[in-house]
Amino acid sequence: MNPIDAATSALYQQLAGITEPALWLADENITTPLPPANPAIEVVSNRHDLASALHHAGWQTTFNDFDLSAFSDGQFNSLLYRISKEKALVHHIINQSFRLLQESGALILIGDKNEGIKTFARKAAQHLGGTLREQKLAGNLWQCTLTRADNTFGKQPLDDQNYTQLRPIVAGEMHFISKPGLYGWQKIDQGSAYLVAQLPAMIKQPLPLHGSLLDLGCGFGYLTLATAGPDTQVICTDNNAAALIACRANLDLAGLQGTVLASDAGDCLNEQVDILLCNPPFHAGFSTAGDLTDKFLAATARLLNPDGIACFVVNLHIPLERKAQKWFDRVDLHSDNGHFKLITLRKPRTNR
Ligand SMILES: C[S@@+](CC[C@H](N)C(=O)[O-])C[C@H]1O[C@@H](n2cnc3c(N)ncnc32)[C@H](O)[C@@H]1O
Repeated sequence: MNPIDAATSALYQQLAGITEPALWLADENITTPLPPANPAIEVVSNRHDLASALHHAGWQTTFNDFDLSAFSDGQFNSLLYRISKEKALVHHIINQSFRLLQESGALILIGDKNEGIKTFARKAAQHLGGTLREQKLAGNLWQCTLTRADNTFGKQPLDDQNYTQLRPIVAGEMHFISKPGLYGWQKIDQGSAYLVAQLPAMIKQPLPLHGSLLDLGCGFGYLTLATAGPDTQVICTDNNAAALIACRANLDLAGLQGTVLASDAGDCLNEQVDILLCNPPFHAGFSTAGDLTDKFLAATARLLNPDGIACFVVNLHIPLERKAQKWFDRVDLHSDNGHFKLITLRKPRTNR
């Protein structure tokens, strides 16, 4: 388990003292171990692993893409938020906070100066219309507490790039649907593009794929959109709520009959597949990068048919081949392009 960071620790101290109805917005920045559940607080998280862990720890938790529309106007006395990396998401939450807070209720933002906490707080103060208190917690870490004024305010929403809306994106020859809140939402990942280009050579079959396909960590579904056809039985899974929304929309638009579901590296799946495609996450969210690679490899070994093939793309520095030896009898480096390498995994071990 990772040690909790200073921001998460500051947030947990705030959560512990809350007795009035509050909402905690929790994204990938939260680190474990989790604090004891507080019955006064509801949690919304866009991370399936975090939402499940919170639920099991007794928290009232909702997993979604920060769709806060089910909560009533003025339902909360406070909102607590360790700010996200993505500006559109931070703005979306600040905008929603005016409606959700009671008059004089507080929006508590925690984050680093380098993450723009001061600018977010200044803009939030204009929208909420009340007071702004800034407290330095440690180093560059700040807590900004903003109060909501009366209903004459709340009329200057921040630019959230229409956070909740799916929209068409054109990237090169690829047309797809996407939205803020998911990994690289406006572009095609270069590693994934390399995997798709080399896939026929890796599996010694032309595209589109036949048989069953698992897209593990699917994002908006690029790997599936670029490789599946009408005869492919598709399963796409991701940990991120925005990714699942976009991926479902893309499969429908492409006329692909597939299942899209939330999981932590495939933990909700049991069915074994013929082909598994994966560009695993390599920067840490809830887990460290090393843990995540192992988790993805273990899931792949469990979910691959004995005669199936898994094709991974990773940055050159990730020791995937070494780690994969534990889980597979055949691990082959297919190629690299100086930035990314492509690896095939076959013959999952049953006696690890
Ligand atoms: C490098 S991106 C690849 C996205 C997509 N497959 C592509 O090729 O564009 C890695 C994906 O893994 C997802 N992810 C991160 N942690 C995960 C987990 N524990 N379980 C499932 N998916 C996860 C991220 O949300 C992200 O969509």
